[in-house]
Amino acid sequence: MNHSAYPAPIASLSAATLERAASLLEGGKLVGVPTETVYGLAADATNGAAVADIFAAKGRPSFNPLICHVANLEMAERLVVFNELALRLAERFWPGPLTLVLPKKCGCSVHDLASAGLETLAVRVPTGPMQQLASMLERPVAAPSANLSGRISATSAIAVAEDLGSAVALIIDNGAPTVGVESTIIAVESDELFLLRPGGLPIEDIEEATSQKVQEIKPNTGIKAPGMLTSHYAPDMPVRLNIAEVSRNEALLSFGDPNIAGTDAAVAEINLSTRGDLAEAAQNLFSCMRTLNQSGAAGLAVAPIPETGLGLAINDRLRRAAAPKGVSDE
Ligand code: TXA
Ligand code: MG
Repeated sequence: MNHSAYPAPIASLSAATLERAASLLEGGKLVGVPTETVYGLAADATNGAAVADIFAAKGRPSFNPLICHVANLEMAERLVVFNELALRLAERFWPGPLTLVLPKKCGCSVHDLASAGLETLAVRVPTGPMQQLASMLERPVAAPSANLSGRISATSAIAVAEDLGSAVALIIDNGAPTVGVESTIIAVESDELFLLRPGGLPIEDIEEATSQKVQEIKPNTGIKAPGMLTSHYAPDMPVRLNIAEVSRNEALLSFGDPNIAGTDAAVAEINLSTRGDLAEAAQNLFSCMRTLNQSGAAGLAVAPIPETGLGLAINDRLRRAAAPKGVSDE
């Protein structure tokens, strides 16, 4: 699917742009909306036809549920049930790059299509225009990342236009997100925390705030993670990770001072963070991947990146980018 032949209007963030976006959402249209993590493809979460358009525009399978963005904790409490542990996380980390998967409340206004018919709903309070729109609409806003299903996430208005073009009525331009990778998704099941996706909030911070271990999801525990299929964030070329040497015709994605053989002969090289800073690397990840994807290289070689803090989310995205294609999720 390629909608980019008919580019969507891009408008800089302003009060007037927000008003326009709010009325388009109210009218059932799709809008590209920046958050602190990545750009989202937004629709009124209570409007089934608009939510269906999100799945169609992305080419996303409808069994894969969407995150609902809300203005504040109070709005979230109208949709899902918070226990003490969930409340502690929300109070500490919202607004911010944390999504909580919690039991849906009876009478929850979110359309069933957005939650793919599950008993749970993924909710978060973001910062910036997505939060403002949820507040103006007084309604939850459903939004997956604004990229075609299985492809590299969008961290600029142009990247949204490249992937989704005419499928969106408007794209709000607010520059590069401060975090750069998607939210961390945590399922809260009574007094246990399960990691559904590493992301912009480091696990270490969650464990420190709750004095509780964040657990990996194990098979047959009944925890559902429908979006966790393997191939995703995929460029058009093969990807090799943790490389020590660049091969012929490859582009290089480096980090810190990697000292990699063959660097001079690489088709292109971009360093995610020359000073080895994981937050800076997360910020740059998707835009660098998009740039190298357009470099004409035959493959992408990626330098080693530490598996701590935001490195967990970065390596998760890179492993999926390197996974065989054909099993994409969102
Ligand atoms: O930072 C983010 O989270 C961005 C911005 C736009 O907010 N959104 C985002 O959405 O990454 P998306 O749709 O690309 O990823 C949402 C993930 C999917 O893997 C989906 O399967 C999972 O959340 N998810 C949604 N609802 C769920 C539920 N009830 N149970 C388990 N997983 C769920
Ligand atoms: Mg996504």
